[in-house]
Amino acid sequence: MENTNYLLRHMMEEDISKVYEVERKSFPFPFGEVLIGNIFYAAPELCFIIESEGNIIGFLIGGYTAIPKRAHILSIAVLEDFRGQGLGRRILTYFLNSIGKLGYLSVKLEVNIDNHKAIKLYEEFNFKIDSKIRKYYQDGTDAYLMIRVENEK
Ligand SMILES: CC(C)(COP(=O)(O)OP(=O)(O)OC[C@H]1O[C@@H](n2cnc3c(N)ncnc32)[C@H](O)[C@@H]1OP(=O)(O)O)[C@@H](O)C(=O)NCCC(=O)NCCS
Repeated sequence: MENTNYLLRHMMEEDISKVYEVERKSFPFPFGEVLIGNIFYAAPELCFIIESEGNIIGFLIGGYTAIPKRAHILSIAVLEDFRGQGLGRRILTYFLNSIGKLGYLSVKLEVNIDNHKAIKLYEEFNFKIDSKIRKYYQDGTDAYLMIRVENEK
C-alpha cells in the first residue's frame, strides 16, 4: 500500500492495545497485551510506533537488560500491507539513533532462524549472530541471539 505520510514517534500508554493488535497479526505466538503493557511501562523511552492516518501500522518495543546500557529489542513488526517499503528500516534507525543518544553501548535481540527477511535487515544494521538459542519459540524452533555494538559502522 503506497503512502508516504508516516509518523514515527514514541509509544504512549494509549497505544498499548493497538500495538498488541499489530503484534497479534504479525506473529504466530504473539506477546499478550498485558506483557506489551509491562514492556512499555518498564522502558517507555525504548518503545516506538509508526502511524499512518492515525492508525498504528508498526512498532518496535525495547527494554533494558540486566547489564546497564545494554538494550534489548523485544519485538518489532510492520503490518503486512505496509511491509517492503522501508518502514522496518526506518523504525529500527529511529530506535538505534535514540539509544545512541541515550548512551547505550549495545543492543541485542532474538530472531527465528527461519526469518531470513528480518535477519537480513538486522545484518544490514551490523547486528551479528552471537549464538543459537535452541527451542526458543513455543513450537520448538530455534532463535539466533543477535547483538549490535554501538558506535561500530
Ligand atoms: C521484519 C519486518 C519488521 C520488516 O519490516 P519492513 O517494513 O517490511 O522492512 P523494510 O521494508 O524496511 O525492509 C528492510 C529490509 O528487510 C529485508 N526485507 C524486506 N522485505 C524482504 C523480502 N521480501 N525478502 C527478503 N528481505 C526483505 C531487506 O533487507 C530490506 O532491505 P532492502 O529493501 O534494502 O532489501 C516485517 O517484515 C515484519 O513485521 N515481519 C513480521 C514480524 C517479524 O518477523 N518481526 C521480526 C521479529 S525478530
